[in-house]
Amino acid sequence: MRIDVVSIFPEYLAALDLSLIGKARRDGLLDVNVHDLREYTHDRHRTVDDTPYGGGAGMVMKAEPWSEVLNGIRGARESAAPDERPVLIVPSPAGAVFNQKMAHDLAEEEHLVFACGRYEGIDERVVEWAGERFDVRPVSLGDYVLNGGEVAVLAMVEAVGRLIPGVVGNPESLVEESHSDGLLEYPVYTKPSEWNERPIPEVLLSGNHARIARWRRDEQFRRTAQRRPDLIAALEPAALDKDDREV
Ligand code: ADE
Repeated sequence: MRIDVVSIFPEYLAALDLSLIGKARRDGLLDVNVHDLREYTHDRHRTVDDTPYGGGAGMVMKAEPWSEVLNGIRGARESAAPDERPVLIVPSPAGAVFNQKMAHDLAEEEHLVFACGRYEGIDERVVEWAGERFDVRPVSLGDYVLNGGEVAVLAMVEAVGRLIPGVVGNPESLVEESHSDGLLEYPVYTKPSEWNERPIPEVLLSGNHARIARWRRDEQFRRTAQRRPDLIAALEPAALDKDDREV
């Protein structure tokens, strides 16, 4: 998968060199390209923002550098079909809220482009114009406001990247994790079996795999009902097995 990120703080994205995502880049599974928006300005001050029409607080990102960098990215992939529209993700608190289903859908794409806005956002005409060349998706990390899109991009690239085959060494660890089946993950324990006078649940020492699986599933329900009742309400009846019961 190719990923392009445009930002006025390219150093923010240095974290994409670390850990599993960094290894995936070195292994050739992910081709990540970070672009400094200021490189696409042509004035002495490398200006990327200006005052908002209609007045009000803050500054708005100018259209010209954005169209220049996005045109370059659109043309950079020689292997792309001429009618291919890469997904352009615009992180914004005004976007649809990112979730695991979105991460799975994005992991199927050939090319993702992330446009990190700062200040009050990007001139809306860029988004309209880009819609003719990209599949534009405003996406929010959650119902709170960050100073810019960079932190959201780090989160989204990690969530999407780890779903690409080969990035996570043991693909089984993607199966039994929070949100993979609409529930939160069960609690986990490791050695010693008793710590600070706290023994682990005895079922985990039973060697009875069916009992352990049942206990884990019940714990998923208990935890989800307590922490995220909205997820319980959203469960499809088909997602329940015959031994699932009200917790
Ligand atoms: N930029 C500012 N706030 C944001 C948020 N909540 N999600 C994504 N991008 C943002």
